[in-house]
Amino acid sequence: MSGHGDAQPMKSARSGALKGVAEVPGDKSISHRSLSFGAMAVGETRITGLLEGQDVLDTASAMRAFGATVTRLGQGAWTVNGVGVGGFREPVDVIDCGNSGTGARLIMGTMATTPITATFTGDASLRKRPMGRVTDPLSLFGTRAYGRQGGRLPMTIVGAANPVPVRYALPVASAQVKSAVLLAGLNAPGETVVIEKEPTRDHSERMLIGFGAKLSVEKTGEGHVITLTGQPELRPQVVAVPRDPSSAAFPVCAALIVEGSDILVPGVSQNLTRNGLYLTLVEMGAEIEFLHPREEGGEPVADLRVRFSGNMKGIEVPPERAPSMIDEYPILSVVASFASGKTVMRGVKELRVKESDRIDAMARGLEACGVRIEEDEDTLVVHGMGPGGVSGGATCATHIDHRIAMSFLVLGLASKAGVGIDDGSPIQTSFPVFEGLMRGLGADIKRG
Ligand code: S3P
Repeated sequence: MSGHGDAQPMKSARSGALKGVAEVPGDKSISHRSLSFGAMAVGETRITGLLEGQDVLDTASAMRAFGATVTRLGQGAWTVNGVGVGGFREPVDVIDCGNSGTGARLIMGTMATTPITATFTGDASLRKRPMGRVTDPLSLFGTRAYGRQGGRLPMTIVGAANPVPVRYALPVASAQVKSAVLLAGLNAPGETVVIEKEPTRDHSERMLIGFGAKLSVEKTGEGHVITLTGQPELRPQVVAVPRDPSSAAFPVCAALIVEGSDILVPGVSQNLTRNGLYLTLVEMGAEIEFLHPREEGGEPVADLRVRFSGNMKGIEVPPERAPSMIDEYPILSVVASFASGKTVMRGVKELRVKESDRIDAMARGLEACGVRIEEDEDTLVVHGMGPGGVSGGATCATHIDHRIAMSFLVLGLASKAGVGIDDGSPIQTSFPVFEGLMRGLGADIKRG
């Protein structure tokens, strides 16, 4: 919902060893897709483990507005009775995607090749984010978009009445853009082709195949060439949403920097398009064991045993790894503050167009906590202070950004003087049980 409520200031203080089991909620990317792909299938899709964060709840409301029947049966258990590819009806009111870029961009794709009109809005953060990256390729199908300057929301999308298939090479590494084009391609005749130079999260491809679409991925000199055959009948699915590796990152990184910690985080996705943070942490010297590797809900998962790691070293994060850890740079920069030596993160300019400008938000907050930072448009460098070396003591601005809020609360747990944040309310968008889960491990996190 776009009405971002009252700010909720929060604090975290230096904590004793974190211990126990951290069961993080369902994956946000897969949750959005379960609802919207279910809405485009004919019949009943059953979902378990759905993330009940506000971002996903907003997508559920949007799917109802387009005519699907979306029902909550119990904690994480939902059904979607879909209307079929091309079966969306015109919503009678504005579609409010709240804080969610994924919600807005994927939903624009789902309706772009159906002859209906819908107007999208979101909260103050989402209304600043660029939508042209999605509406440009959608215009190739014949879709029209009328938004504010710079392609911002509120924006009205007029679906193409006679869509044509599209061949599109992604100019930015973005799973949202890739997915929007593929979803639009579902209701266009013939083959829609998306080419990505750098692989981004592949949940749409995997799930569309599961829902019965004809989709192939070929690795060529140009990159991944994804070919989708339009106008399939999607079959409803039973979807077990795996736990979110991007949410798991917060308890994992907290345990790495809080002395004496030893926690278990079960069932974390090891999908190669999502696990860049974990590779990076291991290279830095983090003590993480990947136990019981197996498959759950069509994704490779493992149980992570994580111990306090007092010997982590700063590294150069390979820029080509960025798409597989794009949401994890804020929390990585916290871990880097407790490592020795500098951590260099290059090729990260996409962070500037997330829920906030994440390079700026982290740089300013870390500096206020006594950490030396260097930055340019596309780079963030953190000079590590070593274990226990971060002074903290600041109140950091979170800019309506859940991952900035959680990152600074984690920093406070291992800093000398703790950390405040001006607003923790955005945490409910992706990790509504964060506060209770972290407190259950022994983290000193409070409201106020
Ligand atoms: C997402 C893709 C990423 C990521 C976002 C979720 C998705 O965005 O930052 O949190 O589910 O497709 P981009 O596609 O803009 O990189």
